[in-house]
Amino acid sequence: MRRAAFALLSMAAAASAAAQQPPDVFVRPDKGHCIACHQLPAGAATESRNDVGPRLEGARMRELGRAALREIIEDASKRNPQTVMPPFGRHRLLDAGEIDRLAEYLHALP
Ligand code: HEC
Repeated sequence: MRRAAFALLSMAAAASAAAQQPPDVFVRPDKGHCIACHQLPAGAATESRNDVGPRLEGARMRELGRAALREIIEDASKRNPQTVMPPFGRHRLLDAGEIDRLAEYLHALP
């Protein structure tokens, strides 16, 4: 019983850490630099005032789902040919593993 409670607690701690610490490729200017255009919801560790793109809200990210998030990061121009969001996968700025990590991070946002 106590063990189960401990396991649950550590899972919750891991989940909230994941929600608060963006992968480095989210902030690195030579990688995603997602914060150059996007804000994160209240409660996320990293702050940005930039609003070129929409605020990345957890509820919206989960509504989109992991597959769509990966697709958007891979090449947002497939959904909107006019978008200013760079095609990170197509331009090889991010590899498949980095895109997966970002999709997981977005999916877990508050
Ligand atoms: C140069 C600005 C810019 C950068 C850098 C950028 N984005 Fe975007 N992003 C946008 C814009 C603008 C949109 C709005 C959709 C459109 O233009 O079609 C968008 C849309 C999105 C969406 C869909 C949001 C929704 O509610 O539909 C996600 C998810 C997203 N971006 C994630 C990222 C991630 C992750 C990164 C970093 C790897 C990133 N963006 C980097 C500009 C940017």
